[in-house]
Amino acid sequence: MPGFELFSDLEREQVEDVLDNGVLMRYGFDGMRKGHWKAKALEAELQHTFKVDYAQLVSSGTAAVSVALASAGVGAGDEVIMPTFTFVASFEAIIMLGAVPVLVDIDDTLTLDPAAVEAAITAKTKAVMVVQMCGSMGDMKALRKVCDKHGLIFVEDACQAIGGSYHGKSLGSIADFGCFSFDFVKTITCGEGGAVITNNPEYYKNADHFSDHGHDHVGKDRGAETHPFLGYNFRISELHAAVGLAQIKRLPEFLDIQKKNFTIIRNAIAQIPGVTFRRVPEGGIESCAFLNFFLPDLDSARKVSTAFMENGIDVCFHYYDNNWHYVRKWQHLSAAKSLYPLSTEIKTALVKLQNKTFEQSDDFIGRNISCLIKLSWTEDEVRARADKMAQLISNTLS
Ligand SMILES: Cc1ncc(COP(=O)(O)O)c(C=O)c1O
Repeated sequence: MPGFELFSDLEREQVEDVLDNGVLMRYGFDGMRKGHWKAKALEAELQHTFKVDYAQLVSSGTAAVSVALASAGVGAGDEVIMPTFTFVASFEAIIMLGAVPVLVDIDDTLTLDPAAVEAAITAKTKAVMVVQMCGSMGDMKALRKVCDKHGLIFVEDACQAIGGSYHGKSLGSIADFGCFSFDFVKTITCGEGGAVITNNPEYYKNADHFSDHGHDHVGKDRGAETHPFLGYNFRISELHAAVGLAQIKRLPEFLDIQKKNFTIIRNAIAQIPGVTFRRVPEGGIESCAFLNFFLPDLDSARKVSTAFMENGIDVCFHYYDNNWHYVRKWQHLSAAKSLYPLSTEIKTALVKLQNKTFEQSDDFIGRNISCLIKLSWTEDEVRARADKMAQLISNTLS
């Protein structure tokens, strides 16, 4: 991660193909596009790569989450359970539909604690969203069991974990829906873009229509298409899809590099007393987009994070103090700061967050450091970085 580090002639050729025929929109203009359908081709690649029946490209990962939830009928007043550690997109996508985000603790997998999910279920709960953060996954069997027991929709945000797997199944393909982001910093990038994948034909049809103003996509005359229900515009453009089409074919190459670099750094720090790693559920294989490790306490994690920054070890994040990824710093959420009026249900739920504590999440995120694994490092660079990281951690802990 990120795929842009290795842009090549493959991406250029795909984009030039689109510019040559001049059709930047994914729907219509059949004659003019001379058989070029980049979004359709990328959807077919996604179905093939993730072994699912359906893929719907959209304009972003955030849109993918909204489209997935809407496609399953989640809306006004419905509660959606999500983790305290994620990207702000998770609650944005829920609130956009008028649904209510219910935040619950993470465990040592760094995503949803199944026991915390079960404890948060009410008569209004409609869906559970696991966010496969930083290249790994939640306890999918346990989470599925909770969802099945309570008849809940299970959504998998695999935006940060493309290429990881669980019992042989690709992350994103396990729950009722999988959501991907292809924004600029993801392992596979379109510049901006996202996708919803599913094996459910009804959900797919809904996602297809909802992401394009409710168009039914029947026939060849866009103006004559009917609108079975309300929708929005979450379309991807052909230019973005073209970049993604080149990138998805390179996913195995990117994953190999990630794994090689990840392993060098992991091995270098594994023996340091006090260093432990996130739990990867049995049967799980990380995408290796990030290496996550725990230190004994918040204080040592803060010191190591500072030592990394002061000594040129970039892209290592201590999310406890980060504004994007952890509940502790989402004051705009708990203050329900919105440009437009929010429903009473949403406001009531958000204001409760002001006094809610998440000790279990604080413990894991407070001790965690999450290091991005780049694709462009040379082996010498990775080895030098790994040695330096080991030395800085050892010095801090001794
Ligand atoms: C876990 C997660 N979900 C959703 C998103 C949103 O993706 P996008 O930036 O494409 O809207 C991101 C983006 O960083 C993410 O990390």
